[in-house]
Amino acid sequence: MKTLPSDIRIAPSILSADFATLGSQVQTVLDAGARVIHIDVMDGQFVPPITMGPIVVEALASQVKEHGGVLDVHLMIENPDRQIEAFAAAGADTIVVHYEADLHLHRTLGAIREAGVLAGVAICPGTPVEVLAEVGDLLDLALVMSVNPGWGGQKFIEGTVERIARLKDLLGPEIAIEVDGGIDAATAPLVVEAGARLLVAGSAIFSKPDVPAAYSAIAAAAGAS
Ligand code: DX5
Ligand code: ZN
Repeated sequence: MKTLPSDIRIAPSILSADFATLGSQVQTVLDAGARVIHIDVMDGQFVPPITMGPIVVEALASQVKEHGGVLDVHLMIENPDRQIEAFAAAGADTIVVHYEADLHLHRTLGAIREAGVLAGVAICPGTPVEVLAEVGDLLDLALVMSVNPGWGGQKFIEGTVERIARLKDLLGPEIAIEVDGGIDAATAPLVVEAGARLLVAGSAIFSKPDVPAAYSAIAAAAGAS
């Protein structure tokens, strides 16, 4: 059975990595201590950019799992239910779909778990956290976007801290809260204090000249392993 680390973790987002050397970029963060690798899938519909698909998950799966790591797959796509099988087969440990992109969220979350994958829902900054109340028993993780989805390198939206705290109260301690967008050594402690356990960071890690040092600085600020 797939599981998430139970302690606070930084999840490097490969969206900001150098794709010409993706394997070695991932190795660098694994060596620095990362055990959750975040993969941003975009379809040019739900969000304007097009990024990557199951083929990239498959390419990284054995390397990440050999280190005891997990692949955290964030689907910023319309009709995510159509892609569950492909991402599960590619080696995804989590599949996180957007509340705003799926008319049949309850069914989709059930299908993700049935595929043997941890189920998650992401909510955009304009979506009330309370929409997740009805699906709490189908969730392994809930992702609060702290920027509008689509691009790395955006500024952290301050109101996210209060949203995380509200969602934590709503869902209870069992469901991991993930936060994504604008996370660096300054914002990391704020979201941990509010109750987040998985902190996605892209540009604050991969756009820095010293990637291991950037990872370690955020991990230290967050009190993460
Ligand atoms: C944005 C993606 C993020 C992105 C975060 O839509 O979901 O995972 O990589 O990038 P930073 O950490 O640079 O805000
Ligand atoms: Zn993401």
